[in-house]
Amino acid sequence: MQKPENQSGNIKATGIVAQPVSVTRKMAASLPGLRELAVSKGLKMHHLGAGYPHPEVTDPRKFLTHKTRYYQHLADKEGINDAEQLPEYLRESYSYTDTLGPKSVREKFSQVYGADWNVKMDPDLLVPTVGATGGISLLCSLFERSGEPLAFITDAPTYAGFLARASLGHQTKIYSVEMDAEGPLIASLRSQIEQARADGRFVPFYYTVPDGHNPAGFSFSQARRESILAVMREYGLLVVEDAPYIYINYAEEAERPESFLSMAPKQSVHLFTGSKIGFPGPRVGFLYSEAVMDISGGETASLRDLVVTEASSDILFQNPEALYGLEALLHDENMVLRASLWPVAEDKLAVYRENRQIMLDGFERELGKYPDKFTWTHPGAGFFTVFSFQDDSVVCDEGFVSDLASNYGIVVIPMYPFYPDDAKSRNPKAGLNELRLSFCFSESQGEARRNDLKESVQAFCDAVKKLSDIY
Ligand SMILES: Cc1ncc(COP(=O)(O)O)c(C=O)c1O
Repeated sequence: MQKPENQSGNIKATGIVAQPVSVTRKMAASLPGLRELAVSKGLKMHHLGAGYPHPEVTDPRKFLTHKTRYYQHLADKEGINDAEQLPEYLRESYSYTDTLGPKSVREKFSQVYGADWNVKMDPDLLVPTVGATGGISLLCSLFERSGEPLAFITDAPTYAGFLARASLGHQTKIYSVEMDAEGPLIASLRSQIEQARADGRFVPFYYTVPDGHNPAGFSFSQARRESILAVMREYGLLVVEDAPYIYINYAEEAERPESFLSMAPKQSVHLFTGSKIGFPGPRVGFLYSEAVMDISGGETASLRDLVVTEASSDILFQNPEALYGLEALLHDENMVLRASLWPVAEDKLAVYRENRQIMLDGFERELGKYPDKFTWTHPGAGFFTVFSFQDDSVVCDEGFVSDLASNYGIVVIPMYPFYPDDAKSRNPKAGLNELRLSFCFSESQGEARRNDLKESVQAFCDAVKKLSDIY
């Protein structure tokens, strides 16, 4: 009898390397067990870990009413008064659509978003994506297509979703850049690009989150943005601006730094998502770039065309209903196209601004007198602050955060997994004195939300004082 080639009986896929589960997924998976343990000890759970939009600002019911009114408005505009007649938006919403989605959504979005960010956007250059996640994925797969060794430059620490997607490509190596309080260190940004090229890798872009950096918990200064752009121009790289928190912004209008989109649309790729200004469920996003690329065979192509080809062999058909939902959001209660999305953001910001202040005030009150022991970032945008222990005695590893959950009921995310491997090899302790604390999510609303967050901040401060031998 012939010996079976495959003894295990399993399908052979030996080229595939298993990827580690992301820390946020791991934490989410372990939460029910930790919650049970905490509850069995009579502890209340304090959510300072989850990076989810707050339920108080993501109740879809008001939006659904508005959307229904907007759809009626579209039908009225078409002059439909026969109940049997199918309005165009409805036919289109449930049909196969173009890879670029309905044109009206792109036209209206480019008008409103362009006005907010001071840039004349071309609606034909807007490529719909499945959230910002979809934009990251399209870009990675576009550059992976050639099969050549790649280097993606990013921050240390960087967004876990980017790390997860970028590390799927076997030919890709991450070259990371440490940051100070203003953004990435420019000398390191330069030397990492040079090192990657010296290593024989093609370097297409530097990926970052300049507003409300996840997980670093701060926004880049205007001066640093300009220095980054100068490096991008010098070396001929794109800056990929992942912008989920661009409207979740706590800076005064006059003090808001400019986006790379408005500073240099030809040198940047901007990733918009509806997840934070609207809702994460519908998975709406746009990739926008005016970049032109020199490609194989001495030809040139717009990045937009390259990405559309990529998208049409990936998602192929967008979800038109979800995109029409975004179009509804772009209209006010009188069905007039908004001049700006800031009033929409303000509904959400009211909650996040208050939560951020509760957390920062609590830290200042309880821990402000121990600057040699604890520091934390003051986020200009976004959902997170990074809390750092200044002495080496506290090590924020997986065991530390599990103990914090099971002994104190406090859920936080450790920072070390957000540091790419090369950053850990430069500094094996990278992130091990830091925690990512979020102020965006709790289970309660209104006054109960405020009280719960105050309690959580107090519980956290008490715990870290105890762990640092301060009584
Ligand atoms: C920096 C960053 N990029 C992308 C995402 C994912 O966004 P989306 O829901 O649009 O895929 C998040 C979500 O938390 C994020 O923080």
